[in-house]
Amino acid sequence: MDKVKKKPSLIEVLNNNNNNNIPVWLMRQAGRYLPEYREVRKKAGSFLNLCMNAKLAAEVTMQPLRRFDLDAAIIFSDILTIPMACNRNLKFVENEGPRLKPIENEREILELKITNFEYLEPVYESLGIVKKQLKIDKALIGFAGAPFTIAAYMIEGKGSVNFSKCVSFFYANEKLFLLLLDKLENFITNHLIKQIEAGAEVIQIFESHAKVALDENKFKLFCIDPVNKIINKIRKIYPDIAIIGFPRNAEHSYLEYGKSLNVDCISIDQNINIEWLIKNLKMTNNRNLCLQGNLAPEILLEGGEKMIASINNIIDVFSSINHIFNLGHGVIKETPVENIELLIKTIRSREK
Ligand code: CP3
Repeated sequence: MDKVKKKPSLIEVLNNNNNNNIPVWLMRQAGRYLPEYREVRKKAGSFLNLCMNAKLAAEVTMQPLRRFDLDAAIIFSDILTIPMACNRNLKFVENEGPRLKPIENEREILELKITNFEYLEPVYESLGIVKKQLKIDKALIGFAGAPFTIAAYMIEGKGSVNFSKCVSFFYANEKLFLLLLDKLENFITNHLIKQIEAGAEVIQIFESHAKVALDENKFKLFCIDPVNKIINKIRKIYPDIAIIGFPRNAEHSYLEYGKSLNVDCISIDQNINIEWLIKNLKMTNNRNLCLQGNLAPEILLEGGEKMIASINNIIDVFSSINHIFNLGHGVIKETPVENIELLIKTIRSREK
């Protein structure tokens, strides 16, 4: 007999079919805090080898779902596979993070193209593998970095708090910087469309370094306009695909982001007053509001009573809107596995 098919609860919430579930998944839910991840990563040899091996990437994508009652799997890859496919010599240095060949002149931007498609292909293949294994009530999430965040890494050549090289670049050469964003926007759009074709039901767009462009005019030009183009192109082909935008640390600009972009959900970091955001977004937004977040990863790392109180508070504050429980940023690698078990148990105990 056919199993009764149930739509993933996370998708139900994104479609505003309100039920009493509180869907939950965690950014970086597959990662170094899990012993079984460390084992597979060792077998792969490096983080990038793991990203490039569709079978192993699918395996680590599934690992957190085998351990915890999560509502979604996020495909295992990295936002920097796009510059890698543009032949920018990406490597990850242990305990230091990503390193790339920095973009230094106009010619490099004019000539920028995807030269190594084979660095993007494994993600489509691993989406296919995961899709077959995933239970019907779990959502499959694909993702990409937003153009500004990827451009920031490509100019800086590494991660940074204030991306000062990138800032100097866009002040000195705004037109050229916009051309770089335009080119990246095309690559990212294609990458996301291919992920949807391969089975992603939700996509999340990570603008992890929104804070670097927080001047109002720059935020619109660099963070809103390019993402708007991506969303509009995708919606032309897939009008109903669920899209989550995450302009991390965008402070007051979360409001502009929510007003301007046709996203189904906004993921929010922990450094924002949730009541303020909900109140103001409700006033400016006719659409059904869905927010994702926003427990601080440091509180998850600590666990215990303080974490339980924070989780309960988040569930209370978000109770008037559609809410997907998540962190404000990725799981920290020292996080004890028991804390995640307690997090899920606490959330489930609040479901009606
Ligand atoms: O969330 C998930 O579980 C899915 C997988 C995922 C990874 N990176 C795996 C990863 C996702 C969605 C990302 C996105 C990503 N990658 C972002 C946006 C989100 C954010 O964190 O702001 C960014 C900025 C990157 C670039 C990147 N990748 C950085 C800065 C680092 C940190 C370097 C380090 O050593 O911690 C990575 C590495 C990375 N990406 C790891 C994982 C599991 C750790 C790699 C390892 O196993 O050593």
